[in-house]
This record gives sequence, C-alpha cells and structure tokens, in this order.
Amino acid sequence: MAEAKKWVMKDPKRENVFWPTAELKKQAWVSDEAIYKKAAADPVAFWSQQAEELHWFKKWDKAYDPAPYAYKWFIGGKTNLSYNSLDRHIQAGHGDRVAIIWEPEPVEEKALHITYKELHERVCRFANGLKSLGVKKGDRVGIYLPMIPEAVVAMQACARIGAPHSVVFSAFSPESLRDRLDDAGAKVLITADGYYRRGKPIDLKKAAEQGAEGTKVEKIVVVKRLDGSASMKAGRDVWYHDLVAKASADCAAEPLDAEHLSFLLYTSGTTGKPKGIMHTTGGYAVQSYLTAKWNFDLHPGDIFWCTADVGWVTGHTYINYGPLMNGVTTFMYEGSPDMPDYGRMWAIVQKHKITQLYTAPTLIRMLIKQGDEWPAKYDLSTLRVLGTVGEPINVDAWMWYFEKIGGERCPIIDTWWQTETGANMVNNLPGVGPFIPTVAGRGFPGIIGDILDSGGQPTKVGEGGYLAIYAPFPPSLTRGIYGDMDRFKNQYFSDYGPERYFTSDGARKDDMGNFRITGRVDDVMNVAGHRLATAEVESALAQNDKVSEVAVVSKPHDLKGEVPVAFVLLRKGIEPSEEIRKDLLATVNRVIGPTGRPEEIIFAHDVPKTRSGKIMRRILKSLVRDEPVGDLTTLLNPETVDELKKAVGYKG
Ligand code: WTA
Repeated sequence: MAEAKKWVMKDPKRENVFWPTAELKKQAWVSDEAIYKKAAADPVAFWSQQAEELHWFKKWDKAYDPAPYAYKWFIGGKTNLSYNSLDRHIQAGHGDRVAIIWEPEPVEEKALHITYKELHERVCRFANGLKSLGVKKGDRVGIYLPMIPEAVVAMQACARIGAPHSVVFSAFSPESLRDRLDDAGAKVLITADGYYRRGKPIDLKKAAEQGAEGTKVEKIVVVKRLDGSASMKAGRDVWYHDLVAKASADCAAEPLDAEHLSFLLYTSGTTGKPKGIMHTTGGYAVQSYLTAKWNFDLHPGDIFWCTADVGWVTGHTYINYGPLMNGVTTFMYEGSPDMPDYGRMWAIVQKHKITQLYTAPTLIRMLIKQGDEWPAKYDLSTLRVLGTVGEPINVDAWMWYFEKIGGERCPIIDTWWQTETGANMVNNLPGVGPFIPTVAGRGFPGIIGDILDSGGQPTKVGEGGYLAIYAPFPPSLTRGIYGDMDRFKNQYFSDYGPERYFTSDGARKDDMGNFRITGRVDDVMNVAGHRLATAEVESALAQNDKVSEVAVVSKPHDLKGEVPVAFVLLRKGIEPSEEIRKDLLATVNRVIGPTGRPEEIIFAHDVPKTRSGKIMRRILKSLVRDEPVGDLTTLLNPETVDELKKAVGYKG
C-alpha cells in the first residue's frame, strides 16, 4: 500500500477522542474554532456571507424573514441550482473537469466519465426535452430512476427550468410510487427500462407504468439501461434518447426566486401517509454547497463518493447538488456492494482514487462481517475524509471504519441531519474536530441547537433529552409539508413553539458541547439507513384480507440498526401458517417494497390494549427488546402480555 500521511491524532488524555493534526488543519477550509462563535453571534450575517460564493442573477433584498412557520431566506434574490452546479464552473474555465464518474455493476462494463461541459449539454438537452413535453416552471416532475447518471441529469434539468422534482426510490413499490405521484400532482414521470442489481436485470418500466396508473401522469420518459425491449405505449411513453436527440443543447437556466420550490421528497412521518417535504432553491443551495465543502473538505480534483441512493435526501444533496456546486467529481455506483464479491467497494476506491467516502453505519457493519481481508487487498490511501449518516454509529463500526478504511489518518465526520433539514446540521469539521465514536458533534457553524427536556429546558451534560434547532433556522430547513401545512406546524413546532424546531431525535451532550444522537423518539425507524414509519408497515399489512388487527414496533438489529417486528391478529377462522406468513410478506412487498419487510411476524390472539381499545405499542416494544414491561394494571387485557412473552421468547 502506498505511503499515507497521518491526518488525525489520538487525544492522550481522553479515551477514543481524536483530533486533526497540524497537516489536516493546514489543508482544511476551516481549522479555527472561532468560526463557531462568530457565526453564532449573527447566523444571518454568516449565511449571507457564505451565500456570496454562489451565483445570484439578482441579489436578495432581505437575508432572513423570521415569520413563524413561514421563515424565509434570501428574499427577493434570484438564483438557480443547475446554474450553480454547471455553468458557474464552465465560465470559470473548468468545463473539462470530470463532473460524474459512473461505475456500472457488471464488472466487464466500462466506467463512464462525464465532464462538466458534457453534463451541461446533457442537462440542457433534457431540460428542453421536458419543455417539449409541456413541463413548465412550477410543474412537478416524478423521477423513478436507478443509480445511473441520468438520475442526476434529470434532477438538474428540472432545477434548470424550475420544475420541482419528486424523486421516488427505485426499490419502492408501484403503490408507493402512485401515492407520491398523486400527492405531488406530477404530469411527467422519468424512469428507466431497468437496471442491474446483483447481476440480474430488474424491470423498472413495468413498475413505473403501474405506479403512474390512475394519476395525472400523461408522459413517461424512459431511459434505456437494459436491452430496450420494454413495450412503449404510443402517445404516453417516449424514449429518453429520442427526446434528447431532437432537443437543442441550448437552455439558459431560469432565474428563480430563492424561495422557489426546488423539490419535494416524500419521507416517513408517524402516520401511514408519507409527507412531501418541500425544499427551496436559494437556502437549500447555500447550505448544500457549504456543508459539502467544509464537512468533506472538498478541493478541486477531489473524487467524492456518497454511497446513498438518489432516492433519499442524502443522494439529492451529496451525490448531486453539493459536490457539483463545489465543482468536484461525484462518483456513482450502480449496484450492490457484494458484486462480484465483498471487495467491490474497496476495488472502486482504488480504481477511481476516491478521496472522500460518505456511507451509512449499516453498510459498514455488513462489510465488517465479511472480514478484514477485503479492504486489506486494496490501496485505500487516496482517502482523506470519511463520513457517516443515517443512524447512530456504534463504537465497533466507527473504529473499524477509522482503522481499516481510513488507515487511522482520515477524520470520520458523523453527520446528523434529516430529509427535513435538506443538508447536514450537526457534525464536527475535519479541520477542527474532535472525532469521537458515536458522537456527531456540534451544530455546523451558524446552526444553533440544544438538547431539551420535555418541558423545553436545556438538559445537563450527560442527561438524555431531545434535539431541537433554534431560530434563525438554517437556510436549507424545509419550508413545509406539501399540501399539509397544519401537519407541518404540529409535527415540528408544537413541542417547543415556533422558534424551536423539534427533530424527533433523542440526544445527549458531553462536556465539550458535542451532541450524541441516540435515535428517534417517535414511531419512525431507521432500517438499514432507510427511514420508515411503523405505521406504514401496519397499514400495508392491514391491506391483507386475512388480517384483522396489526401492530408494528421496532427492534434493535446487529446489522441493520433497527428492524420492524409485526404482531398480527388473523381474522376469525384463519389459522397461522407458513403460507400466510409468506402472503403477508408479499403484501408488504407490493404496498411498500422490500424496505418495509418485517423481520419477524408474530401471530397473536390479542395485543395489549388500554380500556379505550388503543393498542399499547410501548409494551410490545418492551417485549421484543427484553425490557421491563412496566405497569399493566390499566390494561383492558393484561393476560395477553403473558401469552406474548412466550411467543417472543421474552426473558425479562
Ligand atoms: C437518523 C437521513 C444518528 C435520525 C439524512 C434522523 C442519524 C433520521 C444520523 C433522518 C446520525 C441521520 N446519527 N442518527 N449521524 N443521521 N440520523 O430523513 O434519526 O432519511 O431523524 O435523513 O435519521 O432520516 P432521513
């Protein structure tokens, strides 16, 4: 392995605390912790100053409007995400830099390198193609694409003309797609004929047309990734390659209001209905740009690999907009990390000389299980900064990532954020530190938050509480839930009022002011880094006509972090069987997709209920976690708890 420089040192006085070395400090964009104080003294001035680094067709009149539930940034300013991602670099003379490297899953297929100039041309052509289909500024466009460069092209093309995109994860079922297309009122859907996953071609076109059925979708644009044999319905379906071949390569980026809706992204709340999280153009651009730059220490020539799927917010911000606005190379991999073997990720790092790797703890844990010999085979010395996201990381996974992947020289940036926040919120900076296993860190400069108790008082060091973010709210924080502003107010601002955004995450702080995120305090799970509500799995299972009642709770899992466990009551006269279990799993697959699949299905005669008939999910949660079940005297049916203890193998 090539000689790699040490960038990180262990704190001699504290266990498991690491700091940047002088060398890393020298290289990093930020190395002086005075930035925190300065930004906190006037966050609006801080963000405004940073916003100047981007291109504005018209500068804002007012930086921040604090109106309750209707806060705004850069009011009166006009900008464009696609202009900032592409044109800005080309005008600065960097058009020949590589914007995207794409690696297909089949090893025999060649990787693709797309320069900024080429990407610009592709985006302009497709933007014109969308226009020719009647897409106008403000129209919502559905995107249901796998990990292929066209996913980035499609998002960029939408942003260019001001048509908000709504990307739906390609592994979601047609029904999930339909709900999202319906809610967004999308008239155009962009999909592919398929993609490769674990060596198998997957048909996506069929799922896309099923999902579009009964919605307002009039046109389906299909990218050819497989053999092009998909059946196309005349008048509705159009091949992407035909559309762009006819379109002009000239498409000026639309100057958009800073508050213009740039995209919707549906995410799980505590009910069965996903919510369309709304993001802006200007505020989102500024925070995506700056967090990508400072957190991963992006410099010209860097090759940044974020392993998320484009269907999740991490893919939006750190595959697409963040790295491209920084003019570096964003790396995309089409397939599965075990194809053809568990060395694939490390082979990719070596082959493409990846400089930053940003991934999820669940993937790290999965790779640890395969043994140290896989990363040991490859030269990983190009890596400089490592990142994690999506769920709390455990000490073992952190240390393995640090030692075996980062060679004890790369800082690990543990970024806490949410679909709602649009970009990273809490993490320590590579040039400032400290880097501590399981600890995300401080609010990014200009972001003020604290850990509060249920009464809204800040907790003491080490005490558990809830993470809240204070006004002035960070520029990329969501402006609301599409079509449901009441839900927005209630969900995020009823606990601590309109000046403090409630995150639904539990956390505690240490004596240095770092936050350790302990996980969701509502009924939202993080399953293998994928956000999912227990209520979504419940409503999926309830669609099976054999089910009379169902309750889903989460349970910790070694690899996936958390998994859903379903308690199912069958209709009268139906006996539990393997066949019914399979049928139930198939129902979840149909309604949500494989991400919603319960790890266990427990057939029960009854579940604990209050006297008013409400299911006590808290008790079920304790049962599957082997925790004390607490007071049962107020239950309608305390005897059912004993029966369930046997069913789940409760040891108490
Ligand atoms: C969790 C993903 C601990 C958290 C970007 C949050 C984390 C939810 C971290 C949002 C982290 C995200 N440490 N937990 N570094 N990052 N989470 O919307 O529970 O898919 O509320 O956004 O993931 O998930 P979402």
